Amino acid sequence: MSLSRIAYVNGRYVPHHAAGVHIEDRGYQFADGVYEVMAIDNRRLVDMTPHYDRLERSLRELRIELPMTRAALDVVLHEVVRRNRVRNGIVYLQVTRGVATRDHPFPKRAEPAVVVTARRGGRPNPQNREEGVAVVTVPDIRWARCDIKSVSLLPNVLAKQAAKEAGGFEAWQVDADDMITEGSSTNAWIVDADGNLVTRPLANTILSGVTRLVLKQLAEESDIRVVERPFSVEEAKNAREAFITSTTSFVTPVVRIDDRVIANGRPGSTTTRLIELYDQHLATPA
Ligand code: PDD
Repeated sequence: MSLSRIAYVNGRYVPHHAAGVHIEDRGYQFADGVYEVMAIDNRRLVDMTPHYDRLERSLRELRIELPMTRAALDVVLHEVVRRNRVRNGIVYLQVTRGVATRDHPFPKRAEPAVVVTARRGGRPNPQNREEGVAVVTVPDIRWARCDIKSVSLLPNVLAKQAAKEAGGFEAWQVDADDMITEGSSTNAWIVDADGNLVTRPLANTILSGVTRLVLKQLAEESDIRVVERPFSVEEAKNAREAFITSTTSFVTPVVRIDDRVIANGRPGSTTTRLIELYDQHLATPA
């Protein structure tokens, strides 16, 4: 059997190296599309319902038609995972408004274009989970609809690159009031002096992370209080603990913000407990 990677492109399963979309796909020209990244853990797709809910919401907000039913999409995602023989990794799904002559208004007739890829890896690095990571604060220069999971990620790309160049793992974006919005591809959390988890409330300023949602439920089920309120850079630097969540980083401790070491510079006990709770969640079939 061949080990070549397979992608799904508009109804066909094609070799990854030969997969392509039209040069006038509006995703390519206008970033006119949305995406989801889902984790594959032990061959299972993780937390699919909230991912489909968010995908449908993003599409609805942009008035892009749902290209296929949830059931049909589910078949495609599982088929791509199976064909690529991924046990632990990620699936990427992208839906754009489709192909049309370049013109800003919505085209009258365009079929949404669907691409699905899967790959191994894209999981948290064990060293980061054990030792924690550094984050670097950057101004949040994004648009006012960060709740839509749009493929328009240039500010996020620039933020992540700035973090990387400064020796950080993630960038924490900061609004005009010196409040942290979220990471470039993760949600941001701190643990306050009372042991409460603090994360920014859902609004147009952040993405509703699936990992954020799941972790909030897991924490509450374990009697760890979650307070949704904005927090400042100063508060974060003085926090008892800090961490990030996402499909690719799960729960990853933050031990440094810019030049400030958080607490004793080691992952805190609440974060460690949350890592365990999230791992248990992954090991529990839905
Ligand atoms: N990023 N905030 C932003 C801006 C994100 O792009 C992401 C996800 C998250 C976390 O969401 P979730 O828990 O659903 O993964 C928060 C994905 C992983 C990415 O772009 O690769």
